Amino acid sequence: MLNDKIRIKGIETQNRIISEPIVSDSGDNEGLPTLKTMEIYEAYANAGVGMLVMEQHAVHPWGRNKINQFRLYDDDSAKAMEPLTKLFREKGIPIAAQLNFSGAGASGKALLNEPDFKLFSPSGLRTPRDLIQTDSLALEIDQINEIIQSFADAAKRAVELAKYSGGVQIYACHGYLIGQFLSPLTNIRTDEYGGTLENRARILFQITEAVKNAIGDFPVSVRLGASDQMPNEGEKGLTLKESVWIAEQLAKMGVDWIGVSGNHCIYGIGADDNDTAYFSPYAEAIRKAVEKYGVLVDCAGGIRTSKTAKRLIDSGTCDFVGIGRPLIKDKSYLLSWNL
Ligand SMILES: Cc1cc2nc3c(=O)[nH]c(=O)nc-3n(C[C@H](O)[C@H](O)[C@H](O)COP(=O)(O)O)c2cc1C
Repeated sequence: MLNDKIRIKGIETQNRIISEPIVSDSGDNEGLPTLKTMEIYEAYANAGVGMLVMEQHAVHPWGRNKINQFRLYDDDSAKAMEPLTKLFREKGIPIAAQLNFSGAGASGKALLNEPDFKLFSPSGLRTPRDLIQTDSLALEIDQINEIIQSFADAAKRAVELAKYSGGVQIYACHGYLIGQFLSPLTNIRTDEYGGTLENRARILFQITEAVKNAIGDFPVSVRLGASDQMPNEGEKGLTLKESVWIAEQLAKMGVDWIGVSGNHCIYGIGADDNDTAYFSPYAEAIRKAVEKYGVLVDCAGGIRTSKTAKRLIDSGTCDFVGIGRPLIKDKSYLLSWNL
């Protein structure tokens, strides 16, 4: 049933609908939430969703996406998120923090003037989307280690200082740094972080392990870019077969749930809005591989009606359905779903 409450570690969702992370562009230039942020998220807290994954937070100054992005790389920034998470905790709606290092996937050109910012990538290559249109530096091993540690430190701040009740989500899709490592289109390294699939996925596994060690009993999820192409396109770069293997390794490592989306094909920008659930073939394949480990799967992208949502759950395609764009404009969108 769509309105089943689902237990994940110590938390319980209100139903099977996840409010997917959506950058609100509402932070100030120090990356702190504003009154506008609070208004937006108060409306999300009343939207009838079972759980919310909060938009991406930077784990390191180098890893920012835009100047006004929320941050979890210092204690004060983390503490500033607590009033926001309280809106959800008071209603018993789990809220998870999405953790990101953008690398060459960054979009805010103003970052290039920030003294503590550096544009990095696995191999110094631009992403296919290339929003920042600037060459990046290939990461050295000690910098990779620093980034892995920054995910773990940010996760700790997320649950201890910002009080994200739903733990954290590692952002491994949409062409950001982890997705750049996963894809042979943006990773041509010849060391232990490039080449074979195991090597390309190494940083994700190391981040996952470090985060799990840092936050113990809280849920840890990964939003995984299942492929570099949309399901109706020819194969290029990261393939579904590869991401199914990655998902199974994550399940063996004890990840609690996996969100399925695209990698260099992003989240299906411009994909039709006609209730096609366009990533459902990817979610179904991944769920088949991880179900035996008790790992739950969330499918998002073009899901627009309760009929489709129920069909996806009933058919075993996924355990959760994710909603993104419909809730941006209309926080009462789910009312018509009669949950
Ligand atoms: C403006 C905007 C901002 C987004 N920000 C994020 C983000 O911070 N993290 C993320 O994982 N996905 C992000 N997404 C992708 C959404 O979470 C979701 O996967 C996508 O909108 C597809 O679902 P939908 O068809 O229900 O909108 C964003 C999408 C949009 C339109």
